[in-house]
Amino acid sequence: MKMRKGIILAGGSGTRLYPITMAVSKQLLPVFDKPMIYYPLSVLMLSGIREIAVITTPEDQAQFRRLLSDGAQWGLKFTYIVQPKPEGLAQAYLLAEEFLDGAPSAMVLGDNLFFGHGLPALLQSADTSNAGGTVFGYRVADPERYGVVDFAVDGTVRRIVEKPDVAPSPYAVTGLYFLDGSAPDRARAVTPSARGELEIVSVLDSYLEDGDLRVEQMGRGYAWLDTGTHSSLLDAGNFVRTLSERQGQQIGSPDEIAHEQGWIDDIALLQRAGMFGKNAYGGYLNALIEQA
Ligand code: G1P
Repeated sequence: MKMRKGIILAGGSGTRLYPITMAVSKQLLPVFDKPMIYYPLSVLMLSGIREIAVITTPEDQAQFRRLLSDGAQWGLKFTYIVQPKPEGLAQAYLLAEEFLDGAPSAMVLGDNLFFGHGLPALLQSADTSNAGGTVFGYRVADPERYGVVDFAVDGTVRRIVEKPDVAPSPYAVTGLYFLDGSAPDRARAVTPSARGELEIVSVLDSYLEDGDLRVEQMGRGYAWLDTGTHSSLLDAGNFVRTLSERQGQQIGSPDEIAHEQGWIDDIALLQRAGMFGKNAYGGYLNALIEQA
């Protein structure tokens, strides 16, 4: 079995955050003390994934490269792929087909933030299920904005519906998809929806039809945060600030995770800490070594 590879989808025009995103990609905006993409990247790293494709618009790729470089600073390997137009989440599997080369994948949306006790175990368990797919259902107050799980009376999943007028349940499907090697083939069979996109829910439905999709609940102890509006972006930043300052522990630090996973040594971590010597993030990384 091939090792699972990661995809971070960070394309899109971010029009809902205009004028901020007229000149900078949404996924590079700050969520308190780190760029947004650090958080979904951390999720892939916690899943044990080290080979990751970063999909961006043509205009934004240079800035992502400047921020993330080749990944060696975290013991990772990044491949940069361009999405010429935002034509749907499922398109990512076509763009990344060569990169995946038949391997199973975990795709995370570059603007999705996850937090919760037990998250690493949840991710690792999704990683070990090799055949079929695993997605996560999360209860929200406004499911119509997302892909929504339609449950049959016996609790099995009937369908996943994209942005329905009337939501069949309060359970949204988060932007984190563990799919097996057949995802690109399934994506190829998808036809564009009314909004002109290759919808991820169509790929998920194809797995469902084969009885091959697991919908795991992400319970109420988790936070799945939205960054889609000016207010929710600020709320996400405040959430990260509140928790990390209260606990004295970082949320979404690729530096800390890489070190904990044993993918970089003390010297490499101290080097990174030195780059941020003037702020609390640098101080935090330093302390990880000094207090060890
Ligand atoms: C996309 C997906 C949707 C999913 C959501 C998670 O929505 O189409 O199924 O629930 O991401 O963030 P979009 O970003 O297109 O609004």
